[in-house]
Amino acid sequence: MIFDDTYRPCFEVLKRDGLYDRRFGACEVELSAVASRTGSRADAYRQCAGDKIYPFKSFTEPASVENLLASGVDFVCVATPDDRHFEAAKQVLDAGKHLLVEKPSVLSLAQLDELAELARRKQVLAKVVYHKLLDPDHKKLRTFVVDGVLRHVNNGYCSLLEPKQISGKQFAEWIIGRNPGTYVAVHYIKLIDFTFGGQLKCITCTGQRGLVGPANGTTWDSTQLRMIYEYTDGREAAFDIHTSWVTPDNFPGYVEQEVQFRFDNGVWNGHSRRRGVECTVEGRTPFDIKITINNHYSAAFVEPDGQRTQRGYGVETIDKFIREVAYVEFGGPADQRGQRLSEAQGYSYNDMSADRQTVAAIQAMEAILARHAAGQPDCVVRVNDPRGGLVLEVPGSSAVEVLYSPRV
Ligand SMILES: NC(=O)c1ccc[n+]([C@@H]2O[C@H](COP(=O)([O-])OP(=O)(O)OC[C@H]3O[C@@H](n4cnc5c(N)ncnc54)[C@H](O)[C@@H]3O)[C@@H](O)[C@H]2O)c1
Repeated sequence: MIFDDTYRPCFEVLKRDGLYDRRFGACEVELSAVASRTGSRADAYRQCAGDKIYPFKSFTEPASVENLLASGVDFVCVATPDDRHFEAAKQVLDAGKHLLVEKPSVLSLAQLDELAELARRKQVLAKVVYHKLLDPDHKKLRTFVVDGVLRHVNNGYCSLLEPKQISGKQFAEWIIGRNPGTYVAVHYIKLIDFTFGGQLKCITCTGQRGLVGPANGTTWDSTQLRMIYEYTDGREAAFDIHTSWVTPDNFPGYVEQEVQFRFDNGVWNGHSRRRGVECTVEGRTPFDIKITINNHYSAAFVEPDGQRTQRGYGVETIDKFIREVAYVEFGGPADQRGQRLSEAQGYSYNDMSADRQTVAAIQAMEAILARHAAGQPDCVVRVNDPRGGLVLEVPGSSAVEVLYSPRV
C-alpha cells in the first residue's frame, strides 16, 4: 500500500526527470530491484507501469532481501509490516547500504541500538519515514513553537482512525497480535517528540478488542495511549493519542485525523479532513473517491501544463532521503564523505539516532498491551527511573519488569 502511495510516484518522477541538486549535480536514480513475499504485486506493477519505470528485478521469499542486496543496490527502503522491519533493516545495514525504513522504525530500543551501531560501523545513513513532519500544517505548528509564537505546550490530544478495510482486508495477513497504536499513534508520538522536545517520563495505554479478534485475545481494535513529558523548566505536559482500525469503511474521509494542542498562550486545532474540500460523486464517494480528500499527502493531478503528476508531502519525504544519500555520496570530494555523512545524520526529523523516545513509547505501549491481554491491565511504564531506562510497573505488585536498562 505505502509503495503505491509514495515510493511509486517518487521513482516514476525520478525516471522521468532525474534528480538535480546544485550540491551533487544531475543524478540518475533507478528502482533496480524489489523484494517481497510473493512478487505478485511487483509483477502487476511492472505490467501496468510500462516505460514509466526502469526495468527492475523482483525477488521473493525465501531469501528475498539477501538476493536483492546481492543484486547490487545503493540504498534500500524497507516497507514490510512493522514487526518485520528489524530483520530486513539489519541485513541492509550489514551489507553497507543506506537504509530508509517505514514508521515505526523498530519495536524496541535494543533493536534500535543494534541498528544505530551497525549504521555507525558501516558509515551509512539509517533513516525513518515520518512524513507527518513534512505536512505543511505541522511545519507551521513547529515554526510557531520554534519562533516562540506558541509558548510551552501543556497538554493535547491526537486521534487517527483507520477504516475497517485496513484491519479486515489490507492487513488481514499480518494483523494477529498487532495493534493500531504501533501502526499509527507513532505518527503523533513522533510529531509531539520532534515539535515540542522534552524528556519522555511516563507511558500508559489501554485499548479495546472483540471486532478484529476475540475480546480476550492479543489483537486490538483500538488503543488509547497517554504520554507525559517534562521540559527543562521542570514543567510537564500530557498527550493522549487515540487510534483505531475499525472505523466504518463508508466514513467520508479515508482516515480521520485530528489534533489539539494547548499552550500557555494559545490553542492549535488541526483537522486533516477539514482542510477545505468536500466533494460528492454519485456512486463513487465515499468509497473509491473520498468526500473529504487529502490533496496534500499524495494526490494525483493534471497539472496546468497538462502533465499528470502525483505529489505531496508523502512523496517529498522519500525524495528528501534520496537527496541526502546523493549528497553523502556525490556532494563533494571523497575524503570529505565523513563530514557529509555526519551532517545528514544530524537531521533529527528522520535519523534513527533521534528516534529513541519514539521507540521507547512504542516498546512501552506494546509491553503494556501484552500484559493487558495476559490479564494484567493498566500497567505503567516509567522512563529513566532509578531502576532502569524503561521500567514497567504492575498495579498491586511491587515487582517491576525492566524493559530496557540503559537510559533512553
Ligand atoms: N507512512 C505512512 O503513512 C504509512 C502508511 C501505510 C503504511 N506504512 C508502513 O509501511 C509498512 C508496510 O505497510 P503497507 O501498508 O504498505 O503493507 P502491505 O501489506 O501493503 O505491504 C507489505 C509488503 O511487505 C512484503 N513483505 C512482508 N513480509 C516480508 C518478508 N518477510 N520479506 C520480504 N517482504 C515481505 C509484502 O510482500 C508486501 O509487499 C508498515 O511498516 C507500515 O507501518 C506507512
